[in-house]
Amino acid sequence: MRDVADPSDLLDWYDHNARALPWRVGPRARADGVRPDPYRVWLSEIMLQQTTVAAVKSYYEVFTARWPTVSDLAAARDEDVMAAWAGLGYYARARNLLKCARVVAEEHGGVFPADLDALRALPGVGPYTAAAVGAIAFDLPATVVDGNVERVMSRLHDEHTPLPAAKPILTGYAEALTPDGRTGDYAQAVMDLGATICSPRNPACGLCPWRRACAAWEAGTQAELPKKTPK
Ligand code: ADE
Repeated sequence: MRDVADPSDLLDWYDHNARALPWRVGPRARADGVRPDPYRVWLSEIMLQQTTVAAVKSYYEVFTARWPTVSDLAAARDEDVMAAWAGLGYYARARNLLKCARVVAEEHGGVFPADLDALRALPGVGPYTAAAVGAIAFDLPATVVDGNVERVMSRLHDEHTPLPAAKPILTGYAEALTPDGRTGDYAQAVMDLGATICSPRNPACGLCPWRRACAAWEAGTQAELPKKTPK
């Protein structure tokens, strides 16, 4: 009999295996009650759109050293920010980054709002980024769905509906598993699981905390999932 996937098993795994990333609060500080800085979470999530973790790290370090708060970024010259962004690509992100920083500085007193609708109203902040910032910075009840999460959910449920039609189905699976607390850790745990264990090729199922709950593991279909509609 297959187990039912338990978010606690994933959170336990995350507590011991979370990737150390510059925008995250480490396990010691977390145990001391330190919360992530919403500005840093937002900046990292904008940079991580269409860009790999490896490519983002050095840019993130440069930005936070030069502009340590959202108000510092809001006061920056456009050309300095565009120059610092050079190489990351998708330059509309950088223009929206500045717009958003200025709205937070001028309309929210330099404090990111702890509210999903207010986050979604910010320039360049769509449903994905609002959910990521809301969950990771504020533990708001939000489910973050990116490519990693879609892959994990398609395998866990042995879902053969091809993407993109499968998107709402996979989002529903991810929402159903979101715990009441620690939504930010849960979001990042699914992303880390997808990046390090439930990888596109040769997933390391032997190390997976959800293996006994995984329908694809039981059926042996993990290498075929997620299915994609041919372009
Ligand atoms: N990709 C996008 N956001 C991420 C995060 N917070 N952690 C890991 N990978 C991510």
